Amino acid sequence: MEIYTTIAECRAARARLTGTLGFVPTMGYLHAGHLALVRRAKAECAHVAVSIFVNPTQFGPHEDLERYPRDLPRDLALLENEGVDLVFAPSVAEMYPPGYSTYVEVGDVSEPLEGAHRPGHFRGVATVVCKLFNIVQADRAYFGQKDAQQTVVIRRMVRDLNIPTSIVVVPTVRDADGLALSSRNVYLTPEERAAAPVLYRALTAARERYAAGERDAEALRRVMRAVIATEPLARSDYVSVADAETLREIEGPIETGALLSLAVRFGSTRLIDNLPLEPPEAPSPPRQAG
Ligand code: PAF
Repeated sequence: MEIYTTIAECRAARARLTGTLGFVPTMGYLHAGHLALVRRAKAECAHVAVSIFVNPTQFGPHEDLERYPRDLPRDLALLENEGVDLVFAPSVAEMYPPGYSTYVEVGDVSEPLEGAHRPGHFRGVATVVCKLFNIVQADRAYFGQKDAQQTVVIRRMVRDLNIPTSIVVVPTVRDADGLALSSRNVYLTPEERAAAPVLYRALTAARERYAAGERDAEALRRVMRAVIATEPLARSDYVSVADAETLREIEGPIETGALLSLAVRFGSTRLIDNLPLEPPEAPSPPRQAG
């Protein structure tokens, strides 16, 4: 496994690889969710590159940039074990040298949900992912469904800027009790960790109600709020039933593909999770007589 910290070295190493390249961008502190992305990339591509970079531009001024967990030696050992070909682990100065002043703003789909609660977050994500795509020049890039809005923003950016990298979204990996894996789960106290599966319980309760025929978006939001309210340590930031493509909140009946999503705080830790809903089946056409 080759490990590089400069853009020039990474570009040169990438140029030596022949055949399809799959790319997994990460902020490190890898868990089984990241490894699922790496394994999918390995199954589909001749080579796999992974970046490890805690991107400061996607953190708000009062967010957890300083305390974001980091363990590069452990990450590298895990990636070596997965048979990754190339790791790019640049410094902040390498990615954002003095005088850096260019940012990518994806309108529209960046605005609701996480965008409304974390101003500037998706500008930072789109900027760094665009830079990484330019550096790594991968054929395919792999992202987790856990960050559903991020996948929608990146797909839009790739489409709008004609970036020749296909985006592959991989299902969320969960602990046995339903909690979605996240590097931020390490912040949870034992009591908060015990409370955190309430996110998945809320999502699955709403999905079950939908499967039973409920089509009113507000009724599903009520189901999720009611489940969150059963957990005294949980404080919800938002509970959403949105159109899966526009991410705009659905008012009234669900007629297209929809995304159930929520952001919930446990003390100072903020967790997000989501479940997609299949579009309702179209009513079958009336049978022709004869
Ligand atoms: O999902 C993440 O870990 C980050 O947002 C990403 C895509 C690596 C960009 O910093």
